[in-house]
Amino acid sequence: MADLSIRNVSVLDGTGSEAFMADVYVTGGRISTVDTGMAGGSAAREIDGRGLTLAPGFIDTHAHDDGAFFRHPGMEFKLAQGVTTVVSGNCGFSAIPADPDQDSVAASGGILAGLAGEFTDLDGYFQAALERRPAINNMMLVGHNTVRTLVMGMDQRAPTPAERGAMHDHVKLAMDQGACGFSTGLIYRPGRWSETDEVIELASTARDYDALYTTHMRNEGDHLLDAVDETLLIGREAGVHAHISHHKSAGRQNWGRIRESLAKVDAALAAGQRVTLDVYPYTAGSGRMIEYFNLDRISRDLAEVIRIASCPAFREYEGRMVADIAAEAGEDVTETVHRILTAPRGDRTICIQFIIDEADVETNLAHADMMVGSDGIPDLRGKPHPRLFGTFPRVLGHYVRERGVLALPEAVRRMTSLSAETFGMTERGQIREGYWADLVLFDPATIIDGATYDAPQTEPEGIQLVIVNGAVAYERWDAEQAGVHTGIGTGQMLRYRRTSYGN
Ligand code: ZN
Ligand code: CU
Repeated sequence: MADLSIRNVSVLDGTGSEAFMADVYVTGGRISTVDTGMAGGSAAREIDGRGLTLAPGFIDTHAHDDGAFFRHPGMEFKLAQGVTTVVSGNCGFSAIPADPDQDSVAASGGILAGLAGEFTDLDGYFQAALERRPAINNMMLVGHNTVRTLVMGMDQRAPTPAERGAMHDHVKLAMDQGACGFSTGLIYRPGRWSETDEVIELASTARDYDALYTTHMRNEGDHLLDAVDETLLIGREAGVHAHISHHKSAGRQNWGRIRESLAKVDAALAAGQRVTLDVYPYTAGSGRMIEYFNLDRISRDLAEVIRIASCPAFREYEGRMVADIAAEAGEDVTETVHRILTAPRGDRTICIQFIIDEADVETNLAHADMMVGSDGIPDLRGKPHPRLFGTFPRVLGHYVRERGVLALPEAVRRMTSLSAETFGMTERGQIREGYWADLVLFDPATIIDGATYDAPQTEPEGIQLVIVNGAVAYERWDAEQAGVHTGIGTGQMLRYRRTSYGN
């Protein structure tokens, strides 16, 4: 007898094929049968899927959940979206490598806060994370900013040969232990002080593993196209698959330029280079505020489109536009930015920047093979960017159903099999016999995000059931009631193109 069955359900198997009717059975954590004949069979728990769609669990290709697996092992903000796997360690910031004698969040500020310093390498991280019984699966990247800070501190110079060697060793160890690639955040400190050749050399470490180079590029605004050229050069020279994170063209004067950027990617693909991208479905970015401003010359244009997400120095500012705070205080908006960032722990402020054009979001989502990554920052104090809670239902409800930007089977493929193949998640991302049973049951007619900038910690609508490695992790059968997080804790720590850690 199977552990669980979902009967009479419309199946989107993740490959991009049209939906078909089947009964799906789960046994021992895996999909045991996909019965299109619907002959009937018994299971310990039988779920009636009539009127609903079953898809592989969604894969968030761009997460910063390294620390969230410790602070919020229930991962409620992802699970309720139907996300069963995340890729953490993005933008050059990763929980590993770590030195217990160093401040683990020196490089990343608030983004990775909460790590307890109980591990030094990826094996140790996986072990410690599993002890929290995480709700969902996690695949890790090893981050350039983290590695560089560990080896060189915040020095604004090129590494010595010995330092290059030490950085290489850290990256190699992470890949030996199962990281899916090397990530950079070249817009951030200390990555911005590295020359292209340093990045090529470290990205080359991924070549032996056929792993990825993922990047928050050096520039996403006035110099976007130069940054794309640099990314493609790094991919070619290092001989690795390059993945551009949260593709965008920031700043009103640059809106529309993503068409040129995508054309560069398409040309590289046509020439045989391996390159992919992801995007989040919002017109605002979010990150550590101090990274976006030069304190000696604060940009007024940027200051005027900034909202405070979380701010340990001024909790009362959370959820407010800096321009409104300035008006109330009788300050110039640039003075307000300066005052926030120079306050005690002001450098830990997370902000939201309204810098992206809606038309560009649609152009990105319409582009072939564009994946979906939330870039959510799991700081639940204050008012985080709504992408943390809403990304996947927003794509399926708003951009697929309401706007018709892409078809449902294709959108699901981009959130499942394509991401699993790209990021090396073995036997995941499809509804297929023998694959791990990461599943989401939803209603395509009602699925929608609920999170807004004012109420960002709102779970989405239209998702009935989420299964992680064969166990029911979330369910919501009554739309009037909040969803139930079962706390079963069956998430695994995934290793690139291998079995998961400990399995
Ligand atoms: Zn980023
Ligand atoms: Cu990011």
